[in-house]
Amino acid sequence: MPPPTAEPAPSIEQLLAFYLEAGVDCALDDEPIDRLAEPEPGSPPIVREARAPVARPIPAAPMLSGLAEPPAPAAAIASARELARTAPSLEVLRELLEKFDGCALRSTASRLVFADGNPKARVMFVGEAPGRDEDIEGLPFVGRSGKLLDRMMAAIGLDRSKAYIANVIPWRPPGNRTPTPQETLICLPFIQRQIELVDPDVLVTLGNPSTQTLLGTREGIMRTRGKWFDYNTGSRVIRALPTFHPAYLLRSPSYKRMSWQDLRAIAKMLAQ
Ligand code: URA
Repeated sequence: MPPPTAEPAPSIEQLLAFYLEAGVDCALDDEPIDRLAEPEPGSPPIVREARAPVARPIPAAPMLSGLAEPPAPAAAIASARELARTAPSLEVLRELLEKFDGCALRSTASRLVFADGNPKARVMFVGEAPGRDEDIEGLPFVGRSGKLLDRMMAAIGLDRSKAYIANVIPWRPPGNRTPTPQETLICLPFIQRQIELVDPDVLVTLGNPSTQTLLGTREGIMRTRGKWFDYNTGSRVIRALPTFHPAYLLRSPSYKRMSWQDLRAIAKMLAQ
């Protein structure tokens, strides 16, 4: 058998394109760390400073200089609650969120992704957090999973003029990582107030994180999907239905059958 021929080393552009495809599109530290480097035989083990697994704002980036450190989580949560509570309209809520500096995700995201659709709609869909496409456009669900959400809505006669769409977290987490529980708690009062102000007849939670956060359940989406919950805004009880996140359906298309059942249940509830 001839010896395997060595692959040419990828160019820096190819490597960067590979990282970008994988969702690695921002720096988490000032210096690169070669995690594949083997220690020299006989050399003492390399002791590295422990690092938090979350992205930190890149220091000294011109865009970010002058931004104050976000307040401690408890203070940030209290401030989020107070701000959200006092917002009399969606416009004011958006303005307050634009200025809110209690969540570090604001520093790494390009822009706020507040909502899309009709604020007077009878149905509201809530996802987890914006991804790369949403971060670029400033609108929720505009990427691949958004296109599927549009098709799901169309299947029951809905489009963005007849639905309102938002996320629990309004800033893209760097590299699309999962938002931390703290980030979710800080953003929660804003999405709760958004739901209260839109006041839909039907709330659809897309995927596990949105379902667990908004409906206060610890059960997984396989158990919760298709079951009606009561969502209490404080002034009214709204019927809420968890269903699969479109991104999950893209990965596991066999669940589209169940998703169709959920969509029919939503249509039936809206017809009442
Ligand atoms: N996934 C979400 O949860 N929200 C978006 O806006 C896009 C993808």
